[in-house]
Amino acid sequence: MLIDQWPASHAAWERTRRSLAGGVSTGLRAQMPPHPLFFTRGEGSRIHDVDGNTYTDYVLGWGPLFLGHSHPEVVDAVAAQLPLGQTYGAGHAAEYEAAERVCQAVPGAERVLWSNTGTEANQAAFRLARAFTGRQRIVKFTGNYHGWSDNVLVSYRGSEALSAPRPGVGTRGQSKAAMHDVVVAPWLDLDAVSALIAEGDIAAVIVEPVLANTGVLEAGAQRLAQLRELCTAQGVVLIFDEVITGFRLALGGAREHFGVLPDLSVYAKSIASGFSLAAIAGRSDIIDQVEDGVVHAGTYNGNPIVLTAARATLDVLARERPYDRLADSAARLVTGAREVFARHGVTATAHSVGPIVQMAWGCEEIRSVEDYHRADWATYDELIVALLRRGQFVLPGGRWYLSIAHDDDTIDASLDALDGAVAAVAGGGR
Ligand SMILES: Cc1ncc(COP(=O)(O)O)c(C=O)c1O
Repeated sequence: MLIDQWPASHAAWERTRRSLAGGVSTGLRAQMPPHPLFFTRGEGSRIHDVDGNTYTDYVLGWGPLFLGHSHPEVVDAVAAQLPLGQTYGAGHAAEYEAAERVCQAVPGAERVLWSNTGTEANQAAFRLARAFTGRQRIVKFTGNYHGWSDNVLVSYRGSEALSAPRPGVGTRGQSKAAMHDVVVAPWLDLDAVSALIAEGDIAAVIVEPVLANTGVLEAGAQRLAQLRELCTAQGVVLIFDEVITGFRLALGGAREHFGVLPDLSVYAKSIASGFSLAAIAGRSDIIDQVEDGVVHAGTYNGNPIVLTAARATLDVLARERPYDRLADSAARLVTGAREVFARHGVTATAHSVGPIVQMAWGCEEIRSVEDYHRADWATYDELIVALLRRGQFVLPGGRWYLSIAHDDDTIDASLDALDGAVAAVAGGGR
């Protein structure tokens, strides 16, 4: 066990496992190499652990901190709201002002529905689609992740990742009955989607317009437009799962970036700077069904704390429009990483879509879900540990998130660290 650099984190982990299942709050966090680390604070692009180490943070809370840690405008806005109340269970200004900002930013967003997490917002979108069409089943694509609910936690990871059209089991304990409502098409195989729709009873197709969860693969405007046409022709609701792309690829997310309008989009990460908020936005005739018998509930929905954070976050993004600059920063990281890999003669790859970077070890390129699953993730985990030793905090699975706080100097310093880390891993060291 590697405890030389992280004795306090290691001790915390030993302790937390006695009171907390898994020692941390999700299974994925529990698997982070070398073992879960424990942190005390973050500011901007930096995060500090209990051992006194400082890292450049490319995890960013697994995505939500698009403004970086503790953006002053968000912190001040939330601090001002805190003494005024935490939840009213009733209407308030931040609730509709944030919704108005979403409608302004997102092309085709006529209405907004607030939820707490991407997982539950996707479920609400499915319910709306079922109610609207009178049909039951959902089509999803291989490699796409839409949350941890039984019906969609299928065909995205592990040995079942490529299973289609039968949903590949995602976890022990999964409800087979719930899985019955979902059928799976190989990533972007529109013929397969057509065939599944032809079998009947399809209410919705859901897609990550950039497949961020499996290789950061771009669906592309043309394919998405074809999918749009197909769904329109068959009366099927098209849902973009923009939990990652929303407000990150462009202010209007994938809708703006690709110029394709689904019926519903689901947002979560990057809308509220780390506060637990999700949204469905899209066609009013579908969303307004909640006024007419379609249940959408949640004690914490639209509470003033998270909506204050969202309003401030959306104001910063609308004012700064950081998208071109961040795409350049991501390209700088990618170009530099490729140079590092070439210099050390290792087979590894990097690419980006907007501000989202994907790296992988043991493959020349990632162009498909299959490529992603063929990469050498065990060695990539070694790279993660070597990067931690050099002050870089990155996710398992190769995705690097950038925030508006990551400037060129930060990225150049990270590339120096990557150079050392790759040399260590390629040389069998640490
Ligand atoms: C594309 C996508 N959809 C849905 C979810 C689930 O969101 P949450 O973790 O907020 O439930 C995630 C989470 O990573 C995601 O990446």
